[in-house]
Amino acid sequence: MSHIGVYPGSFDPFTVGHMDVLLHAVSLFETVQVGVLRNSAKSPVFTTEERVTMIERVIEAEKLSSVRVASFDGLLVDYAASIGAKYIIRGLRAITDFEYEFQIAALNRRLNRDICTVYFMASPEHSFLSSSAVREIGAMGGSIEGLVPPSIEKTIAERLTNQ
Ligand code: PNS
Repeated sequence: MSHIGVYPGSFDPFTVGHMDVLLHAVSLFETVQVGVLRNSAKSPVFTTEERVTMIERVIEAEKLSSVRVASFDGLLVDYAASIGAKYIIRGLRAITDFEYEFQIAALNRRLNRDICTVYFMASPEHSFLSSSAVREIGAMGGSIEGLVPPSIEKTIAERLTNQ
């Protein structure tokens, strides 16, 4: 049986914390579909196309042949069902993530009983890391080295300093 996991998020931008979760997912699922949320209430800094293209570049650089990326709109469970994914993959950094994750997992479960959410704990060295921290540091001219994958570091840094 082929298992597909969907790894959804805003990825604004994709960080080494996301990479950590993605690599765990790759070791567990035959196919991992990264789903970039198109119309987020968070008004992303990077366009959907920029976010998808950067993740494509990471997939290529890291030779992740079982990973695909696309953007999605609407309900996550509907997107998961449309690509045949029975599992939603999420990362947990701290207790503060838990409440939000607990709520969306329960809602998603209610919306579609056949789809289950699995979590990977972030490595301790990534527990402080978030896309918003990367955006803030980059916009203020600080170094984002080691916070985002090397293959997209320059693109992110340039874009953040020129926004
Ligand atoms: O990286 P994020 O911003 O924490 O990801 C949030 C995401 C994309 C998983 C969540 O906003 C989502 O699933 N949005 C799609 C709309 C949806 O399905 N809503 C119902 C459950 S909250």
